[in-house]
Amino acid sequence: MEQPHVDPRLDLEVEIARLKRERNAVILAHYYQESDIQELADFLGDSLQLAQAARDTTADVIVFCGVHFMAETAKILNPTRTVLLPDLDAGCSLASGCPGDRFRAWRARHPDAVAISYINCSAEVKAASDIICTSSNAVKIVRSVPEGTPILFAPDRNLGRYLIEQTGRDMILWPGGCIVHETFSARKLAGLRAEHPTAKVIAHPECEPHVLAMADFIGSTTRLLEYAVNSEHQSFIVVTESGILTQMQKQAPHKTFIPAPPEAACACNECPFMRLNTLEKLYVCLRDMTPELDMPVALREAARKPIDRMLALS
Ligand code: 13P
Ligand code: SF4
Repeated sequence: MEQPHVDPRLDLEVEIARLKRERNAVILAHYYQESDIQELADFLGDSLQLAQAARDTTADVIVFCGVHFMAETAKILNPTRTVLLPDLDAGCSLASGCPGDRFRAWRARHPDAVAISYINCSAEVKAASDIICTSSNAVKIVRSVPEGTPILFAPDRNLGRYLIEQTGRDMILWPGGCIVHETFSARKLAGLRAEHPTAKVIAHPECEPHVLAMADFIGSTTRLLEYAVNSEHQSFIVVTESGILTQMQKQAPHKTFIPAPPEAACACNECPFMRLNTLEKLYVCLRDMTPELDMPVALREAARKPIDRMLALS
């Protein structure tokens, strides 16, 4: 979606606050959003916290500043609310790399297996899964499956490999990856570590195994933030989408946060999907109450069951 034309004389922060009151809306935002959107959010969090916040809100309208699968999850969990996503094209390479029909065919080839799907997938894939997980509860979810039961894990092979290592459970992995987290270069990371020998390397489990092998701490965005703010260490090389640095810097202004370098000379450590949401699009979507996210009731209800199983275990 193109950047909408908005009167440049408008104070967008003021206008968004006014519209939010008028619509009885809540703005939920992921840490990978640009900093001016983070500033306006009523609630900031990782995928699990955002799903919980969407389930629990009593606002009439949820404006989801994140990507499509997150807004879809909000609608599944709170179907009577209007869910808006400032840019409907805000997808995710993990979700688009795992189409529902191919996922169902894969499942059918392993009829005895339990299918655990990472929340970064479509409602169609969720509906065909037994249980959902996020990066913050994945170890617990895998351990909840009885020993000896075969496990299918989709769609992130890197998180899957990390979980195999953490739990000792064998899992059959869907061959998907995050285009942002697979961009980090172990070679450049080694160089940066040599330049900053006291810095702790903190990484998201969507990174590739050779990058995770260099990490001092691995966790979801919220866990990385908590570790960076609360640990006694003073400097950190942050191996995830660079939007998280906004909160790290805000919550620990005296510490040093160094974004890990991608392999190419690009801004590839910014998620191109997350960054499709802009302040202008947020304003226009609240003003016009569109784009709205909706889906067939049968799909919504089928996708809810594995999410509810996850929430009960979280
Ligand atoms: P979390 O915030 O749940 O760690 O997820 C990271 C991510 O890549 C979201 O798309
Ligand atoms: Fe998907 Fe990766 Fe972007 Fe997260 S950072 S939305 S996993 S492409």
